[in-house]
Parts: sequence; C-alpha cells; structure tokens
Amino acid sequence: MDGTEPGPSREESPHVPKEFVIFAGTANPELAAAIAADLGMLLGACAIDRFPDGETSIQLQESVRRKEVFLVQSLSPPANEHFVELLALADACRRAAAARITAVVPYMGYARSDKRHGRREPIMGRMVADVLEAVGVHHVVTVDLHAPQIEGFFRIPVDSLTAVPHLSIYLREETSPGVVVVAPDAGAFRMATEYAHRLNGTVAVLHKRRKSGTGTQVTHLVGDVAGRACLIVDDMISTGGTLASAIEALLTAGARPELTIAATHGLLLAGARQKLIHEAVRKVVITDTIAGGPKDWPRLQSISIAPVIAGALKRLVEHRSLGDLY
Ligand code: R5P
Repeated sequence: MDGTEPGPSREESPHVPKEFVIFAGTANPELAAAIAADLGMLLGACAIDRFPDGETSIQLQESVRRKEVFLVQSLSPPANEHFVELLALADACRRAAAARITAVVPYMGYARSDKRHGRREPIMGRMVADVLEAVGVHHVVTVDLHAPQIEGFFRIPVDSLTAVPHLSIYLREETSPGVVVVAPDAGAFRMATEYAHRLNGTVAVLHKRRKSGTGTQVTHLVGDVAGRACLIVDDMISTGGTLASAIEALLTAGARPELTIAATHGLLLAGARQKLIHEAVRKVVITDTIAGGPKDWPRLQSISIAPVIAGALKRLVEHRSLGDLY
C-alpha cells in the first residue's frame, strides 16, 4: 500500500473481529446469561458434559471463526472442575480459529495461593495464569482479585474490575454517614479505604492471625469503633471465620451492635452462614460472582455484578478505555 491509499476500514481489517460471542461454563450460567442480556444478546450455544469416566467434554455448537470470544467462568468450588472446563472451552475456541479469547473469570480461584508459606509448596495463582496463557487466552477480565499484584503473574492484559462502586450505591442506603469501614485484615485495607471514601466513613483495621484453614484470631485493632456502627468489608467470605472473629473483636471493643458486612465473592462454604447469623449483623451484602448461596437467609442480599462486567465487555469490543466504567 502506498501512502495515498486509505487503510482497511474496521469492517475489512483482518485484525478487528467483526462479531463477538459469549459462552458460559457451568460455574455460573445465570450470571453469564445476565451479562449477555445486558449486551442485548443470548449466550453462544455449547454443550458441556462429562464422559463416563468423569473427563470434561465440550462442543461449541456455533462457529467462532475470526470472532472475539468471551468465556464466562468463575473458578468457584469445585474449582478444579471449573478450571478444566475453562481451559477446554479456550482450547476449543483456539482450534476453531477464534480471533481473540477473553477469559471472564468473575471469581479468580487459587488467588490466595500467591506465595509459598513453606518449602515444597506450589504457587497456584501463578500456575493458573501460566495455564490460561498456554491454552490461548489473550485477555483476562476478573473482579476484585484477592491481591492486585496477582495481575503480575500474567503476561497478557488483565482487567481487574471492582464491585466497590456498585455495592457502595446499595450500601449508601444501608449505612449512615460516619460509618466506620472495617478491614478485617491488612489485605482488605485498600478496599476499606475505597468504601470509606464513597460512603463518607472512616477506616479501622484489624490484625488477623490465621490459626488454621477455618479459624482466625484478631490480635490488634487500629481505629476508633466505640459506640459506632461498622461496615466490615472483604474480598470474599469463604468459611466465614475471618468475619466471625472481626464481629467478636468489634463488639468487644465497644462497637454498636449494628454491623453490616459487604464482600464481593460469597463462597459461603458449609458453616459460614451459621458463623454470620449474629444478632448484631443487620445485613450481609455480596455479589453474584459465585452462583447459588443460601436461599433461607433473609439478611443476605446479593447484588448482581452483571452490569459492571457487561459495561467492561462493551468497552472492550468497541476498543474503548475502561476508564469511565464506574
Ligand atoms: C484473606 O486474606 C481473604 O481476604 C479473606 O479474608 C479470607 O479468605 C476469608 O476466608 P474465611 O471466610 O474462610 O475466613
């Protein structure tokens, strides 16, 4: 081409996918369908099954040739099953000549395995990143990564969205100005600061010592909670142990028995609900990055993250910045 010829239009460019399609793994098809609906489309057709020996069977039932593909799959329990499904979906798309593959992983499992605590341990967060890249994923979209530095495990672009602005809109009605936003451990401090900024609150931090996989102990409290209503925020509720210790520590320190809990990922493993049903806890607010959750828990409120993810995907397909997403 000489300098006088116009370049290829977006329609003609071999590098710009003309269409996109969203497939859902089995971890959270409801969320995937809600994202697709927000974008005014249906999910792509694909069959996901198990062979008699338990191995994963995938078949895309529509063409993805030269299309941009989004694969929606949270790495929620059973994480290994859901991870292999995501890999198989990506491999199927790559072999079917998809132009670009974006893994939309609302809940990034294994993210807590981001360092070695002792000798002869894996770093599973890094392994997940390596394997996703190896099967041909070009881009990852996720929500409230357990720790921001996990992005550095990937060489491909990672857009780590946050549920904080979205949940803050709801929490504004549930909390009063001057609420103390409590980080139940040092890792949640940044998130607590962000909530406090949006809710006109102040911040307090607990220092947590993990005694076991399910038990934690609070050793220090930094901040003033006496006589105040508190909002405890975290990236996830898994066994509920962290929050149960935080509730006890805050009440012991004289906080008003008017506590709200907000967490992006409600894994809510067996026993979590029992730990969090406490007369001082007015509401537990989560998003739907993880499917299911207890139905018979009136104080549990799930807010869909679909509009946030759909907004991000819309900007990605339009090659726009995500800067104005929130
Ligand atoms: C830990 O650093 C995380 O941010 C959460 O606080 C923790 O993983 C929650 O787990 P659990 O509910 O089992 O205490």
